[in-house]
Amino acid sequence: MRFGPQILSRCDALAAISEERGRLTRRYLTPQHRAAGERIAAWMREAGMEAHFDALGNVVGRYAAALPDAPVVVTGSHMDTVVDAGRYDGIFGILCPIACVADLHARGRRLPYALEVVAFGDEEGVRFGVSMLGSRALAGRFDVAALERRDAEGVTLRDALCAFGGDPAGIAALARQDVAAYVEAHIEQGPVLQDAALPVGVVTSIAGGTRLRVRVDGVAGHAGTVPMPARQDALAAAADMVLAIERHCAGRADTLVGTVGKLAVAGGGAINVIPGAVEFTVDLRSGDDAKRKEALAALEAECRAIAARRRVVIGWEPFFELAAAPCDARLQAQWAAAIAAHGVPVRHLPSGAGHDAMEFAGLAPIAMLLVRCGAGGVSHSPRETLAAEDADLATRVFLHFLERFDPASVAA
Ligand code: GLV
Ligand code: MN
Ligand code: MN
Repeated sequence: MRFGPQILSRCDALAAISEERGRLTRRYLTPQHRAAGERIAAWMREAGMEAHFDALGNVVGRYAAALPDAPVVVTGSHMDTVVDAGRYDGIFGILCPIACVADLHARGRRLPYALEVVAFGDEEGVRFGVSMLGSRALAGRFDVAALERRDAEGVTLRDALCAFGGDPAGIAALARQDVAAYVEAHIEQGPVLQDAALPVGVVTSIAGGTRLRVRVDGVAGHAGTVPMPARQDALAAAADMVLAIERHCAGRADTLVGTVGKLAVAGGGAINVIPGAVEFTVDLRSGDDAKRKEALAALEAECRAIAARRRVVIGWEPFFELAAAPCDARLQAQWAAAIAAHGVPVRHLPSGAGHDAMEFAGLAPIAMLLVRCGAGGVSHSPRETLAAEDADLATRVFLHFLERFDPASVAA
């Protein structure tokens, strides 16, 4: 195997750079972000690239083209993780193209385009609640209001960025106009390829999403004295809403999915107090933006009806939205050809997970290569697995694609 073992051992090395002992959590603008980025930058330089941290803490590696003024192709993925994460989400999409560049460089091969590999500092949005900050800035869509968002400790993004050594004033200049194409490799994070016994697949489109915060205000009271019919229990009302959201999304033939990932009683709650206020989050996704918007309106109406029936007050605050991103048909065909050249049947599939590629969709043609996840496709979990053979095959497919790609083939 040419690439698999080294990529997997690098994934292991990065998984050891964690904020928490015994499990992998690496949030944006932490010392662990810095350490992982430095390791990645060193591997980029070793592979023959120039590499630096940009104003937002992304690591950008550049493999110069054969000729000056050549077009630029961007690839990469994210180096932040969810809490108690797997070790391949994001990281594979950084290490796979670095391995390709190392191979090209060792053979003295330059491409007819400059290849930039970006390790994005934030994609998961765990620390500040909004996702894709790194890729959003390169796509020219960074909203400066995000700088005032606070993490759980009350630190603003602006202050965290300055402490990291980044530069809020330099964010606007990260916006790119010169990108001929954006491609990304990623673990599938689902079971489709494993069920089909296929190591890789080509993404057709990436599901769009809405994130919102729901606040439920009831009336706190004594758990022993307030009669049941008189209660305005915020947690019981929130539970009703959570189940209504699940019911609405379940059992549909389309790709709509809804998740309540966080729920907390204000002040932490107490065993003998009727919960007075609860906050929870909703993550709603679909490959079809119109269906997602329709569902959002229907869910709001259902939750408001529950609130009225239970005599609690509801606050419904969407705070993040990303449109579904179709992948470019010409690029998909080129990925398909690279897969077929390795004797593997070509499978096209949609991505339900969000990816940095989505941010580039308005800027350049995008496409993605997915690699099979083991363990039934589990991801966002330490149970995430990736076989060395699959990492190897995906990297050979990636290299095949890069060596044959002509930016003129996707020029508008
Ligand atoms: C990112 O991993 C997402 O899809 O939420
Ligand atoms: Mn993820
Ligand atoms: Mn990811």
